[in-house]
This record gives sequence, structure tokens and C-alpha cells, in this order.
Amino acid sequence: MIRHDFDEIIDRRGTDSEKWNDYPPDVLPMWVADSDFKCPAPVIDALHERVRHGVFGYCWDDLMKVEKAAAHWMRTRFDWEVSPEWVVFSPGVGSVLSAAVNAFTMPGDYVVIMTPVYPPFSMAPVFNGRIPLNASLRIGGNGYEIDFAGLETLLAKPRTKLLLLCNPHNPTGKLLTREELLRVGELCLKNRVVVLSDEVHCDYVFDGKKHIPFASLSPEIADISLVAINPSKTFNLADMRTAGVISSSKFLREQYRTAVTNVKLGRSSLGLLAFETAYMTCAYYVDQLVPYIKGNLDYAVASVNGNIPGISVRMPEATYLLWLDCRELELSQRQLVNFFLQEAKVALNSGESFGQEGVGFMRLNTACPRATLHDGLSRIEQACRARIR
Ligand SMILES: Cc1ncc(COP(=O)(O)O)c(C=O)c1O
Repeated sequence: MIRHDFDEIIDRRGTDSEKWNDYPPDVLPMWVADSDFKCPAPVIDALHERVRHGVFGYCWDDLMKVEKAAAHWMRTRFDWEVSPEWVVFSPGVGSVLSAAVNAFTMPGDYVVIMTPVYPPFSMAPVFNGRIPLNASLRIGGNGYEIDFAGLETLLAKPRTKLLLLCNPHNPTGKLLTREELLRVGELCLKNRVVVLSDEVHCDYVFDGKKHIPFASLSPEIADISLVAINPSKTFNLADMRTAGVISSSKFLREQYRTAVTNVKLGRSSLGLLAFETAYMTCAYYVDQLVPYIKGNLDYAVASVNGNIPGISVRMPEATYLLWLDCRELELSQRQLVNFFLQEAKVALNSGESFGQEGVGFMRLNTACPRATLHDGLSRIEQACRARIR
């Protein structure tokens, strides 16, 4: 069995990395949600061989390799029987959100989201002339909770046509339970609202919990839903611009396919190959990666809550993201961002970019070698101690 070295430190500066290229050398980037790990060796080998061929004309996948690989991953990892015909290729889950808005709503319609959430959830409706309605998550005793009464009110509005669901949830690390998912599904069924469930973080789930694909809940719920997946987060392949959108409903699928093919975003042979190789042959990588990330999270949560004054954090149920509660530092959001950048010398995501509920929070990405994480947390600890002295 291949052993992957997640402790290997790889210099990403100068490689057109969004995460690493934006900041001066003395700042440690811990923001954009990609990992700093090498992707699996079989993916690298397959790409090398394809690159050696040297011709990169328009590609076509008439063997449905991607679709079969997506179905294989869903069956083997999540016990969800997916037919390859249910899968529509898309160039990235970011573009899926926009395509879904165009496929299932008209200009002026309402799209429900649950903030704080990955910013394109609100941008996709706004950029396409639709109106996002926020069913804000609430902080309860056990972390973030859905406000079901608020959600129901928004779903019941006649112009609400689509719910963009994020599960596992970025940035809070919440994993919806079967009961919560069923309640969401029932409300959407009752109000005839289509659900696009973004499950790009589905492989990062800890402590024996299980990710449940939304459309696997029941045949009725499957009829109103589409699930978006991508090996990008799990295998660090975001650059490959791939994604699969899965729906057993031919009607929804064809509406979605029209929206995504309309803009001719295309596909690349390298992306298709990476997608197929990762899902078909690299389960071993995830089986090693998830415990490694859990180790990072355990270490980071203990450090933050034990050693860093002014910041607290909850252990996420899923994802490699930490949602740092910095409200005790009593800084404005602008001051907070500057504090991390200029005093701690780490680049994090400002909580406010995920919605108003994120004011006072910052998002830290732990998908890096343990030594890098240690470096980042030490910088934050020193800066906070100097501030709170
Ligand atoms: C919840 C969520 N959806 C979608 C994306 C973007 O996915 P892709 O790279 O497939 O466009 C991200 C990236 O951070 C994300 O966190």
C-alpha cells in the first residue's frame, strides 16, 4: 500500500497559487480552502503519462469515465447507489452554484442560503439578478443550528425556487444529521423548492460521524435535489476544474445540463483524468489524510483554547476549517484582519466575507503539514499574548 507523506513541506510560492502568491514572504497563508499536500502519486503518474503524449486538443469522454468514477465514489464511500447517467460534469462547484441558479430560477426569484456560508452562495444569486434570502444559522449549545422556523418562512415565499445547501458546512464545520437533512427535505418538498446540495467537503468527516448525501434520503427528496461533488478538496486537485452534479431526476438534470453547457465552459483531458484516477484508485490517500487532518484539528483546537488569549474555537464535525471566534479581542473586523496580517503575520479569511454573522470571526485552514500549522498557531499566540498583556 502506498504511504503518503502529509508532513512533507512543499514550497508553493511562485506556482500561481491563489493562497500563496498574494502575500509577502514573512506572511504565512492559511486561508483559501485548498491543502498544501501533494496530490496522490497515482494521479501524478497518470498526468505525467498524458502530458508526455503532448497533444491537448478538445477532449471528449464518450466512455463516461468521470461519471462512472463519481458513481463509484458515492457507492463505496457513502453507500449511495448512483447511476453514471445521473452525473453531469461541471467545471468546478463554484460554477455549479451559478449554473443551478440559472437552471432553476428566473430573474427576481428568491434563493435561500444559510449564512455564514462560502461567499459564492450569496454571489451566485446576486450576480445573476436573483435575490438571496438568508436563513442565518444560530449559535446554540452544540454549535451552529438551523433556524427551522426562519427557514420555513423563507421557503414558503412564492418566489423562492431554490435552496443552496452547504453540507458539510463551510465555514462552520457543521455536519447535518439525518434528522436535520430530513426536516430540510420535507420543508423543500412541501414548498416545491429545488435543493442544490454542495457536498464538496464530504470526505472530511470525523469521530465516527457519517456524511449523508442529501439526495440519498428518500426517493421523494431525490426528485427535488442535485448533489455537487468534486475530488478537488480531498485530493488537492482544485486546479483541475472538475466537478460532478448528481441527480436521479431526469428533469432537473437536463435543466441543469442546459445551463452548464450553455456557457461552453468545457473540460480538459487532464482534469478528467485526475478526477477518474483519484476516485477510482486513491481511497488509500483519504484513509490516511482524514486521520492526519483530525490530528491537526485536535492539536489546533487544544492550542487555541488552551494557549491563545482572546480566541476560542469549537471542534468542527467535518472539513479542515476552523472558525475562530475572536470577539473577545474587541477589534473591528478591519482591525481584526490587520491584526492577523500585520501582527501575527498569518493570512486568514475574514469572517465577514461569509456574511454578517461572521463579524468577529476568522477562518483558518488546517490542511497543511503539522509543522506549518504549529508555525501559524505560534505566530497567533505570540501576537495575542502581546496584545492582551
Ligand atoms: C463549500 C464550497 N463549495 C465550493 C467550493 C469551490 O469548489 P470548486 O473548486 O470545485 O469550484 C469551495 C471552495 O472553497 C467550497 O468550500
